[in-house]
Amino acid sequence: MCGIVGFVGHHQAAPILLDGLSKLEYRGYDSAGLAVRDGEADPVLVKAKGRLQILSDKTDGGKTVVGSCGVGHTRWATHGEPSENNAHPHCSDDHNVVGVHNGIIENYQELKEKLVRNGYSFYSDTDTEVAIKMVDYYYKKYKMGPIDALAKTMVRVRGSYALAVMFKEYPGEIYAARKDSPMIIGVTNGESYLASDVPAVLKYTRDVYYIGNLEMARLTEGKAEFYDLNGDQIEKPLVEIKWDAEAAEKGGYEHFMMKEIHEQPKAVLDTINSMIRYKDEVGEDGTKISGKAFIDLASIGITDEIIRGIHQIHIVACGSAYHVGMAAQYVIEDLARIPVRVELGSEFRYRSLLLDPNDLVVVISQSGETADSLAALREAKDKGVRTLAIVNVVGSSIAREADHVFYTLAGPEIAVATTKGYLTQLVACYILGIQCGIVKGQIPDDKAAELIQELNTLPGKISKILDDKERIQWFAAKFASARDIFFIGRGLDYAICMEGSLKMKEISYVHSEAYAAGELKHGTISLIEEGTLVIGVLTQKALFEKTMSNLVETGSRGAYLANVTTYGNYSVEDSTDFTIYVPKTDEHFAATLAVIPLQLLGYYVACARGLDVDKPRNLAKSVTVE
Ligand code: AGP
Repeated sequence: MCGIVGFVGHHQAAPILLDGLSKLEYRGYDSAGLAVRDGEADPVLVKAKGRLQILSDKTDGGKTVVGSCGVGHTRWATHGEPSENNAHPHCSDDHNVVGVHNGIIENYQELKEKLVRNGYSFYSDTDTEVAIKMVDYYYKKYKMGPIDALAKTMVRVRGSYALAVMFKEYPGEIYAARKDSPMIIGVTNGESYLASDVPAVLKYTRDVYYIGNLEMARLTEGKAEFYDLNGDQIEKPLVEIKWDAEAAEKGGYEHFMMKEIHEQPKAVLDTINSMIRYKDEVGEDGTKISGKAFIDLASIGITDEIIRGIHQIHIVACGSAYHVGMAAQYVIEDLARIPVRVELGSEFRYRSLLLDPNDLVVVISQSGETADSLAALREAKDKGVRTLAIVNVVGSSIAREADHVFYTLAGPEIAVATTKGYLTQLVACYILGIQCGIVKGQIPDDKAAELIQELNTLPGKISKILDDKERIQWFAAKFASARDIFFIGRGLDYAICMEGSLKMKEISYVHSEAYAAGELKHGTISLIEEGTLVIGVLTQKALFEKTMSNLVETGSRGAYLANVTTYGNYSVEDSTDFTIYVPKTDEHFAATLAVIPLQLLGYYVACARGLDVDKPRNLAKSVTVE
């Protein structure tokens, strides 16, 4: 996620902005910038691609940029490659409005078209430049000042934002607007601070205001005023921060992994919204009907014509991303009736590949830098096959080299063990599968609408599972000293087991295996001893009884039986020892929910064993070597 900072007071702003941004580096970024005003002078903007140190060097630690009012930004690219041109701050052409933004403007395309119709031009590929110019547009059109311009923009914009903006005609003032993205405001000793997160201001003050959703603020020297969407002034309580800087970086969670597990609802929502559009329909009586949701892959160049020509899909990935491919195989084959083959990157790159020019190779990678997956991508391209990357890091090698890129909007993932990266990759595959099914004539309009509607319920259902995490913590403590743990399932449930087993192995170091439940009798069941933990995943109705009987078979050999299933399957409690329920959803999407308890189980077992959850031994976040 991006990081924003702001300062207005009687010290030079630039060094304070750079210091604040350095405390937000953990949020991940690819470029940075600042804008500082000296009195009524125009703001001076300085930007740099790459590390914050480059920006600091460009400004001699901030000394060359004079002024006591300014904003700063570290950018995690979502729209537009990492570059100096796309780096924030962004401004209107006459510098009337300049600002920084953390969040995603979902309807930036339509707003950009509106602004172009009103004479605006654009120098960057970012949604932020559109937002800033929307503020400028309303400021000039209605001439009612900054708060009114921001309020009108907030009403028009769809998405999330923490905006910090300066207006030419209001020197020594910073205006803020917030919806969903984090922002805090601190005032002390006649100076005012704004930031995405607490670490950036802790050096100066522990007393902060939390600006609420759809609220605005006006910062002057040592003072902050707050306004609601009507422009009416509102009072806010001053809150004392009790966290230290390290805890603050993790949002108060003990580990980045737990923070990222809890970021999954928003990451899934942002990823869904990035590909769903809404077209207004006119009713028979001529009235406008609220927008009908539809998937728009044309925005990544995957047109209906390309989809019609696909004969087979090859999904190539490593680790958890490979497990996404395993789940996606079931989903896409069932929804679109297109044959899907899933390969490990390290295997694909050395096979004598049977690829057809009408195939589509999909490379899934959170980092976009995994050597085996990148090599596989290059192999596919050498064979003249169309490639689609599903990647989280904008501008990464795999993203740059693939023919098409579907960016997951998970934000930076710090923990080595992926959670939100995995979940958003799954959602990207669902969207691809639904659209392929529609274009291939396998999914009628009403079913497509149902599936898209069900997709939109997933964030809330994920949150519901997270609300029950203490029960999983209790269960994990019982098995923290387990020697072996088996995850069993059939079909899509088997793919979920693969991810659950990897989470357990990679952070708790407990040996674990994921098994197709029907395979146990072909050898592995000999490993089952008294007290061995066997976890069944049972989300697929048609396979429920079969998996249950396999689970019970292991129980008759002494295994302790746990399972993850959907609410309503209460019969499991008659023959197993511990059940974790997840909300019902369309069975194609079950992995998105059933994996959450398994993420938490691995996490809590690792915690109970006192291990370094975020940095497990022998592992790297991105395996950029063979
Ligand atoms: C998963 O928790 C691991 N961190 C690992 O398996 C990872 O998924 C794999 O290395 C692939 O990484 P990528 O998604 O960045 O390509």
